[in-house]
Amino acid sequence: MTLKLLETPRLYLRSLTLQDIDDVYAYAKDPQVSKYVTWETHKNQTDTYEFIQNFASKKYAEGELEPYGIVLKEENRVIGTVGCSWLNQKKDNIMSMGYVLAREYWGKGLMTEAAQALLDYAFESQEPYLIMAWCIAENKASARVMKKLGMTFEGCLRGRIFRHGTQWDMDCYSILQKEWLDCQIK
Ligand SMILES: CC(C)(COP(=O)(O)OP(=O)(O)OC[C@H]1O[C@@H](n2cnc3c(N)ncnc32)[C@H](O)[C@@H]1OP(=O)(O)O)[C@@H](O)C(=O)NCCC(=O)NCCS
Repeated sequence: MTLKLLETPRLYLRSLTLQDIDDVYAYAKDPQVSKYVTWETHKNQTDTYEFIQNFASKKYAEGELEPYGIVLKEENRVIGTVGCSWLNQKKDNIMSMGYVLAREYWGKGLMTEAAQALLDYAFESQEPYLIMAWCIAENKASARVMKKLGMTFEGCLRGRIFRHGTQWDMDCYSILQKEWLDCQIK
């Protein structure tokens, strides 16, 4: 099973394949990129192989909309991932979104562009009541992406995640399907 191809002005969003190992490893090994994410920095290409072969393939087989490989059209290579997955196995009708981008492409609006396309597709095809996202409170770039997507700040979950020897606060954001559809019409 593969993900439906999505397109934006600068990007394609598509399933990852083992041919993407070099591109994914190039950013997944960067400690600056993985500083605020829940997965470990990739130590070698075997970690990346396992991410694509085990994690990604399983998600695709389960029908989850993650991880979408973000392909920069201009360079025809994967520069990050974005994805939406069901929380509590669909029981609550809520999806969660996550994303990561190679450092050399930060600050060009690319993740906002990618996430917009995915939110469009996720709300249309899966019809969740809302899509949420959370970030370590210090991760201002990620919070800004959520705000630019029209998400509402719900609150701070204190010390909710333990990473790199620190108990980090998590900021939680969400957007209702109704809100997303309303702002697309305007
Ligand atoms: C978070 C991340 C995906 C953002 O991707 P991006 O393509 O740079 O995002 P965009 O360019 O669409 O938007 C980033 C916004 O954050 C702002 N920003 C960046 N660093 C910031 C900081 N330290 N403080 C405040 N704002 C900041 C940018 O100015 C931009 O806002 P603007 O368009 O109003 O100027 C990218 O930084 C990344 O991959 N980080 C590492 C992985 C990660 O943290 N993933 C999220 C886990 S929750």
